[in-house]
Amino acid sequence: MPLLRSAFIALSKNRSVRGWCEHSRIGRRLSSRFVAGTQIGDALLATQSVNNQGMSVTLDSLGEDVTSELEAREAAETYHQVLDCVAAQTLNANISVKLTQMGLKLSPELAYNITEGLARHAKQKGSFLRIDMEDSSLTQVTLDIVRRVHALPELRGSIGVVIQAYLYRSQGDIEQLLAEGIRVRLCKGAYKEPAEVAFPRKHDVDANFIRLGKMLLDSPVYHGLATHDEAMIAAAKAYATEHNIDPSRFEFQMLYGIRRDLQRQLVNEGYNIRVYVPFGSRWYAYFMRRLAERPANVLFLAKNLFRS
Ligand code: FDA
Repeated sequence: MPLLRSAFIALSKNRSVRGWCEHSRIGRRLSSRFVAGTQIGDALLATQSVNNQGMSVTLDSLGEDVTSELEAREAAETYHQVLDCVAAQTLNANISVKLTQMGLKLSPELAYNITEGLARHAKQKGSFLRIDMEDSSLTQVTLDIVRRVHALPELRGSIGVVIQAYLYRSQGDIEQLLAEGIRVRLCKGAYKEPAEVAFPRKHDVDANFIRLGKMLLDSPVYHGLATHDEAMIAAAKAYATEHNIDPSRFEFQMLYGIRRDLQRQLVNEGYNIRVYVPFGSRWYAYFMRRLAERPANVLFLAKNLFRS
């Protein structure tokens, strides 16, 4: 299984396979299980449907690693449109953004400026900007940008970030973010990282997720625990119950199309659930990371593809 995981993560970075898949009809059909569609309208329809089931949404306009400032600004413009549409249709959704899509690798200052603009717009619309976390070479610069935007008094609380439990550094990062009152989404981590920076064994990642999750639950700030792992969810629920932490003080987050049964079950139990809804034509890298997490998805998708 680790071999397959590495193979899918390597494929996620292959530009020629990406080009072929993103433009093929089969590719689009396969990805539709995990991706809401290619247009903003598709994402809004999916959001409405998820909202109707009692869950909130975070919208991800797919894409990463842009190669020009123009591309970064166009990607930001899509998010500005999303914020306007979500407010106009009174949907319950915020936005999730990757900084390499906002030009981080071209210029951190460009990414900062775009991020500040999105946080301002999100605040004006009563929404929230979540910055996704990418590979470990970008952790520090991503945290620096989030902390700089959050330090602007008028934008305090309008931006949050993601912390990955597989990184050794994450406990220290969470301590700092909590001290500053910054909202955190905790996940296990989806990139291939060397043993110098990340726990190689799932067991250790899981233990760290539980440890860090408890730190978030203890804090007065509203955080998100992003996982489909029933053991992680059970540990969080048990800790919250033991410590009289009301379910309204945090949320579980899951990906669109994954463990929909568990999403519904948690809603019925009275927990807040937010579904991460990706959309757009640049779905390839996202899709490959989902296959890397669970190679059995390939069989599942193949069965669906050849059905009817
Ligand atoms: P784990 O991988 O241990 O899986 C537990 C169980 O969940 C599996 O046995 C299976 O039942 C189910 N499952 C998990 N993944 C599945 C899949 N792809 N298909 C079908 N079933 C699956 N990562 C990152 O590095 N930066 C980020 O910003 C984010 N953001 C983010 C937001 C949200 C809302 C979620 C839910 C996840 C992320 N992630 C992420 C991805 C995260 O790091 C991680 O790779 C996945 O969530 C899978 O880990 P689990 O915690 O689900 O557990």
